[in-house]
Amino acid sequence: MSTARLDEVRTAFLADLEEAGSDAAAVETVRIRYAGKKSGLLNELTAHLRELPNEEKRDYGRGLNELKKEIEGSLAEAKKNAGTVIKATAGKITVKGHSPTVTVGGQGRIDVTLPGTPVAQGAQHPVHIVRRRIEEIFLRMGYDVEAGPEVEDDWHNFEALNIPPDHPARDDQDTFYLPQGFLLRTHTSPVQARVMESRKPPIRIVVPGRVYRRDSDLRHSPMFHQLEGLLVDEGITVGHLKATLETFLHALFSDNVEVRLRPGYFPFTEPSAEVDISCIFCDQKGCGVCSGSGWIEILGSGMVDPRVFEAVGVDSDRYTGFAFGLGLDRIAMLVYGIPDLRQLFAGDQRLTRQFA
Ligand code: DAH
Repeated sequence: MSTARLDEVRTAFLADLEEAGSDAAAVETVRIRYAGKKSGLLNELTAHLRELPNEEKRDYGRGLNELKKEIEGSLAEAKKNAGTVIKATAGKITVKGHSPTVTVGGQGRIDVTLPGTPVAQGAQHPVHIVRRRIEEIFLRMGYDVEAGPEVEDDWHNFEALNIPPDHPARDDQDTFYLPQGFLLRTHTSPVQARVMESRKPPIRIVVPGRVYRRDSDLRHSPMFHQLEGLLVDEGITVGHLKATLETFLHALFSDNVEVRLRPGYFPFTEPSAEVDISCIFCDQKGCGVCSGSGWIEILGSGMVDPRVFEAVGVDSDRYTGFAFGLGLDRIAMLVYGIPDLRQLFAGDQRLTRQFA
């Protein structure tokens, strides 16, 4: 035996190590075969040194040392990398740190040329798209987006908003009552009360959310979406309300729409206004959408009633504010020409796919 034998072992080692790849157990088998303490090939090669004639000892010894270093280095490297890759052999997939192994396919083979399972492409719901657009407009104006509970108490949904128990406004809001005085909120306005109770002015918020009423037809669903707005600070006037709503509605629809405030009534605002935009479908010539009137009612608004401020502990001598509320579903129907409100909640992907 001579240095040629060392080269043989080196070649065999490299081939074995390559075959072991990233399988930690296989790398260990290779280690035992070559560098094992008792019966490793390196031991055998070392023992052989003694049997060599003196003139061959020097070359062989040097070659053996190099081989040892190489084998130890390569084994250390292979150990580090072992198991980082998914290994699939004979129907088994092993992933480092994951046992047991997974068995794949009848023949124990993975056909990597098979087409994959297609991933269904989702789409945003039209109400979600409209909500995000409106939120973004108000975020740009310095508002925060807030949320509140859908299961509400009578105080926040009604009383704090100046709707006492016998108030006729309760009849308009066919309420789902729950045990122990709770109810499903009939509008997003209770979040106004919650925020004012918990925080000092200045307040600038919009509140999108689900609301519930016992109502169902072409234009009504027992669950629908509103967005509430509230601004409270010193010296706020109807002028601020009008300018804010115009800025918002121009950004949402177009700079060309006209905005009109009509006198209205809400228990929690005084004065109150219904807000219309000029019909975006017929340029005010009169069409089905605006029922020939040239105007489309878009939201309710007003100056926060001092009684609401008092109920939630805001100083009504110092602060004034405005509020508004709108139906997100109604706006989505308008913007996308969806004729039946219930289509929005039918869960039919033929509708939502059109918004992908
Ligand atoms: N809460 C009202 C509703 O559900 C909408 C509304 C009107 C909200 C006027 C307001 C407002 O904040 O000022 O019909």
